[in-house]
Amino acid sequence: MEFYELLEQWFAQNARDLPWRAVRDPYAVWVSEIILQQTRVEQGRDYYHRFLAAFPTVEHLAAASQDSVMRQWEGLGYYSRARNLHAAAKQIVEAGGFPTDAAGWRRLKGVGPYTAAAIASFCFDEPCAVVDGNVYRVLSRCFGVETPIDTTAGKREFAELATLLLDRQRPALYNQAIMDFGALQCTPSAPQCDVCPMADRCKAREWNAVAELPVKSKRTAVTTRHLIYIILEDEQGSFLIHRREGDDIWRGLYEPLLLEMPHSAEPAEAMSALRSLLAADSAEGTASLTLRIKGSVQGLRHQLTHRLLLADAYRVAIGGIGESHGSLPRGYRWVRPDALDDYAAPRLVKRIYESLKL
Ligand code: ADE
Repeated sequence: MEFYELLEQWFAQNARDLPWRAVRDPYAVWVSEIILQQTRVEQGRDYYHRFLAAFPTVEHLAAASQDSVMRQWEGLGYYSRARNLHAAAKQIVEAGGFPTDAAGWRRLKGVGPYTAAAIASFCFDEPCAVVDGNVYRVLSRCFGVETPIDTTAGKREFAELATLLLDRQRPALYNQAIMDFGALQCTPSAPQCDVCPMADRCKAREWNAVAELPVKSKRTAVTTRHLIYIILEDEQGSFLIHRREGDDIWRGLYEPLLLEMPHSAEPAEAMSALRSLLAADSAEGTASLTLRIKGSVQGLRHQLTHRLLLADAYRVAIGGIGESHGSLPRGYRWVRPDALDDYAAPRLVKRIYESLKL
């Protein structure tokens, strides 16, 4: 039997029932694929439904504010996905409709070869093979491909093999099948080799090397960043937050005042850094300011793909700001506690709010 026949046979018995599979609407499929790029299906489901409820069409999404789009993405991580989705929605509306082939989809922000192939095959039956993490794993094991998947040569080799194996009559079915096969059967750890329809042809199994494939050339470098969040609280009980800008993580999300240090810091050092910062931002001087720590959390850990974030946070009552209330640095604002939820925040920041009972 051909590879695709075995896969499709397996899929007929094991397919997951996923909401975006019931539709061929490019908008819904596109949204689902962007969510699923870095999010597990189980977590993605709820976000998918809520996103489509908030922005039922690409026109709604294009017309929405950046803040409202970020609110829908809050907690999902990889926030550039939401910014790109929003930008691409504007591109689509401006162009007068959705692209109808993979090449057209590729020209949109945030759409790479995988996403373009997924949408073009699922919605338009274009015979192009998806290549994602699942596909790398299934093909490297089944065909014994040892070329590292994070190299140019590896990417080319896997893309060519995937194209050869594609069921050109049923690209949508085949692409869904290989992804579910990778997600359910040929899993990263503890794959179900005993009950695998590929078992008698699988090179990795023959070589007893299932756990060694696929091969990566580099380990992902993990660096540590030390964050100190200062949640300033004024005499009316409002909190100071700002929107992150620039080229760093979490652009477009809101957070309290942030001091970043090259190392972890004791409370006294943190407060001293805070005083320097306030002095630098204040034309009137800070002699009359009072700072009182009302609560703190230490050593929160938050793992991102290439970074470990270690965070401390202090809830600090600030007094004596008087007139300077009106002269905040750009982008900063005081918000009432009950309005805090209106501002999308990274998960780490939400954990801090909860720990400090905001
Ligand atoms: N992962 C990414 N896209 C997927 C899809 N359409 N079905 C199953 N898993 C996926």
